[in-house]
Amino acid sequence: MMLLHTGVNTHMRAAAFHAYGPPQVLSITEVPDPTPKPGEIRIRVHASTVSAADSRLRALRVDSKVFWLPIRIIMGFRKPRKNRQILGTELAGVIDQLGPGVTQWSVGDEVMASTGLRLGANADYTIMKHDAIVVRKPKNLSFEQAASIPFGALGSMFFLYKKANLKPGQRVLIVGASGALGCAAIQLAKLRGAHVTAVCSAKNAELVTQLGADRVIDYTTNNPLDTGTLLDEIPYDIIYDTVGAAPFGAARRVLAKDGKHLAAVADAWGMLWQLRTMLIGSQRAIGGVDSETQESLDEIRALIEDERYIPVIDRVLPFDQIVEGHEIADSGRKVGSLVLSHPMEPGRP
Ligand SMILES: NC(=O)c1ccc[n+]([C@@H]2O[C@H](COP(=O)([O-])OP(=O)(O)OC[C@H]3O[C@@H](n4cnc5c(N)ncnc54)[C@H](OP(=O)(O)O)[C@@H]3O)[C@@H](O)[C@H]2O)c1
Repeated sequence: MMLLHTGVNTHMRAAAFHAYGPPQVLSITEVPDPTPKPGEIRIRVHASTVSAADSRLRALRVDSKVFWLPIRIIMGFRKPRKNRQILGTELAGVIDQLGPGVTQWSVGDEVMASTGLRLGANADYTIMKHDAIVVRKPKNLSFEQAASIPFGALGSMFFLYKKANLKPGQRVLIVGASGALGCAAIQLAKLRGAHVTAVCSAKNAELVTQLGADRVIDYTTNNPLDTGTLLDEIPYDIIYDTVGAAPFGAARRVLAKDGKHLAAVADAWGMLWQLRTMLIGSQRAIGGVDSETQESLDEIRALIEDERYIPVIDRVLPFDQIVEGHEIADSGRKVGSLVLSHPMEPGRP
């Protein structure tokens, strides 16, 4: 086959990995530009992120053997399958092509989106279904800020609003309050009128207070589950453990009789507790994987435009420093989201 050289680059940059392992398994490669099929849109990605999920999936780090099988089925057993080789769960960009039959969107629309476990955001272009979790980019955010929103906001909205049905006046303990889920959780809990106790290290105390936390516990000097240090807050109506540091077995002492324990990081013990609390007692252990919707992300967009919800960004790195981004995410110490900016390549239309 002969290829005609038109002078227009038809290959995009994508951060791909072909084996599970440390951040260095990732490299920026050139792959053909994707083309939208009927019902699909193509987004020119201006910013994406390295989320905690990206770091886990790249390393195939699963806290529980229970999840070893489903994760490998999704990702590929010995190596990532072809349609999972480009990581990235969230992005912001501009729609630049429409597949046949798409009427809801126009070329030039600025959007933010969650690709979720379909991944693929860490590339200069990505394809999504027109009715996937894609919404207009909030007018008052940059692409970098907008890309940082979906993962934390949708995850915490799922746990606090959908699973726990958080109500005004309830007392909530958020463990891992300075991460992407935690920063979102503080804001969402305060919007519902809850009383928030945030658990983080001292260096992040000011941030979580600015986000609305009523009380802060420094986990490096105090045990947040020690009843002696908790004064008036206990028992909590809801304990939301975003980092796996306050499992139900230890946390139930400070949980109200009919309280709910939400575990974003699932393990085998957590699943057994879930089962047990469904059968015995009135406390509930709740886990699971968030089921994201376009409506939820649009609700967040509206909150942002009303200036009632803000992005929290650890740092913005150029896309070609994605390996460094994964090293930071692997540390488990990032604050909010780690964003990658995708400047336009020279010679691109
Ligand atoms: N189930 C679901 O549907 C779902 C959805 C989304 C995410 N997740 C999972 O949720 C987890 C959290 O995600 P994320 O993006 O929020 O993580 P992250 O941004 O990496 O969170 C790290 C933050 O947690 C803090 N931290 C670490 N250990 C702590 C401890 N013992 N107590 C209090 N704070 C601590 C760190 O602060 P310091 O530097 O102070 O330690 C850091 O700021 C990930 O494992 C992700 O895969 C699950």
